[in-house]
Amino acid sequence: MNKRRLVVANWKMYIDSPESARRFATALRKKSRLYKGVDVVLAPAFPLLAVVAEKLKGSVIRLGAQTISEFEDAPHTGDVSAAMLKHAGVSFVIVGHSERRAQNETDAAVHAQLERALLGGLSAILCVGEKERDVAGSHFSLIESQLAVLKNLPHKAVSKIIVAYEPVWAIGKTSAEAMKGSDLREMSIFIKKTLAEQFDRVAALKVPILYGGSVEPGNAHSLMAEGDINGFLVGHASAEIDQFLDILKAIR
Ligand code: PGA
Repeated sequence: MNKRRLVVANWKMYIDSPESARRFATALRKKSRLYKGVDVVLAPAFPLLAVVAEKLKGSVIRLGAQTISEFEDAPHTGDVSAAMLKHAGVSFVIVGHSERRAQNETDAAVHAQLERALLGGLSAILCVGEKERDVAGSHFSLIESQLAVLKNLPHKAVSKIIVAYEPVWAIGKTSAEAMKGSDLREMSIFIKKTLAEQFDRVAALKVPILYGGSVEPGNAHSLMAEGDINGFLVGHASAEIDQFLDILKAIR
C-alpha cells in the first residue's frame, strides 16, 4: 500500500509580503509535476491567507494556517476562529507549535484549539517535540504527555489529525544538526504505539506522521527513507522556492 505523503510549508514570518507570497505560490503551481502524489500545503501568516488563496484557486495545493483560536467566536481580540479560517479557504491548521508553546500556550489551550479545528471541519497538525534529550529517555514520556491532548476528541475526528514530531533542539538549524533518520524511526514507532493506545489501532495507524526541524534538500531523502514518516513540516527551507522544490523532489 502506498503511504500518504504530505509536505507542509510553515512560512512563519519568513514570507512577509503579498508580492513574495504570490511569487512563491505561482512558481510552485507551475512545477506540479515535481510533486505528483504528494499533498502540499502552504501555511502563510494570517494577513497573507487571502492572496495565497487567490493564487492557489483551482490547484491541488492546499492552504494552511499557523494557529487557530481556542474559542468559537467573539469577544477575543486578536483571535482568528475556525469559521474565519474556513471562509478564507483554509483546510489545514498547525496547532501547538513549540514557538507558540514558548509563549505560554498550554496543553489545555492546544486541546481546545484541536477541538475547534476539528469541529470546524479543518485538518489539524498537532506539533509535539522535546526541548532536549537525556540518556534516561525522558523525551518519550514528554511526547506521550503532549499526545494526551488528543484524548476525548470525537473518535471520528482521528481521520483529520496529523502529528508533526518536531524536536525543539533541531528547529531552525541546518540539516547537519537535524535528527537522523534512524533516531526518527524510533520516535515515529513510539508515536504510532501511543496513538494506538488512545484510538483504535487501525484508525491510529492511518494518522500521518510528519517530521519537522531543519528539513532541507540535503536530508529530506534520508529522513523520508529511514524515518518511517509520511512527510515534513518545513520551516526556513519552505520560504525559498528552489529549496522547497528540491525537498519535494527528494521524497517523490
Ligand atoms: P525549521 O522549522 O525547518 O526552520 O527548523 C520547522 C518548524 O518550526 O516547523
